[in-house]
Amino acid sequence: MKVVTTIAELNTFRATLPNPVGLVPTMGYLHEGHLSLVRRARTDCASVVVTIFVNPTQFGENEDLDAYPRDLDRDFDLLSAEGVDLVWTPMDEEIYPVGYQTWVTVEELSQILEGHHRPGHFRGVTTVVAKLFNATQSDKAYFGQKDAQQAVVIQRMAHDLNFPLEVIVCPTLREPDGLAMSSRNTYLDPKQREAATVLYRSLTAAVQAFEVGERDAEVLRNRMSEVLSTEPLAQPQYVSVADPDTLEELNGPVERALFSMAVYVGKTRLIDNMIVGD
Ligand code: PAF
Repeated sequence: MKVVTTIAELNTFRATLPNPVGLVPTMGYLHEGHLSLVRRARTDCASVVVTIFVNPTQFGENEDLDAYPRDLDRDFDLLSAEGVDLVWTPMDEEIYPVGYQTWVTVEELSQILEGHHRPGHFRGVTTVVAKLFNATQSDKAYFGQKDAQQAVVIQRMAHDLNFPLEVIVCPTLREPDGLAMSSRNTYLDPKQREAATVLYRSLTAAVQAFEVGERDAEVLRNRMSEVLSTEPLAQPQYVSVADPDTLEELNGPVERALFSMAVYVGKTRLIDNMIVGD
């Protein structure tokens, strides 16, 4: 496994890799969820490239950029064990050189749900992902369903900008008690960690209601909120029943829906989602 930092080194080693190349973009501090993307890329592609870059432009002013967990040596060991060919860990200065002023924005999809509560977040995500797509010249790129809106926004961007690349969205990996895997779970103390299972319980309650015939969006939203309200350590920021493609909030009867939520447990903001009717 080759580890490179500069774009010049990346270009040199990328040129030696057999196609198709699968890209797994990450911010590091890898867990099984990331590794499941790497394994899928390994199955689909002749070569696998992983990027590790804690992208400053997708963090808001009061968010956890400085505290974001990092452990590059551990990440390299995990990736090497998965047979990754190339890891790119760019420096901030190369991704955002002095005088940087070019941004990629997916207009409407970036403003709702997560985008409403994290203004500018998706502009940072789409800009860096476009740069990672360009620089690595990958044929397929892998993202987790855990960040459902991110996946929809990136698919839109790839389509709109004619990137010659397939965006593949892989299932959310969960801990045995249902908590979706996330690097941010490490912020939770033991009591908060237990409380955090309420997201899974809340989503599961709505999915079960849907499965036994409940179709009213408002009733399904209320079902999620009811379960969240049983956990005193959980402070919901939003609870949504939306169209899985347009991400528009739904009212009345639904046949397909993305159930999603952002919930603070202590100072940690957790997100999770499930899709029904697909
Ligand atoms: O999902 C993430 O880890 C990040 O948003 C991504 C896609 C690597 C862009 O920085």
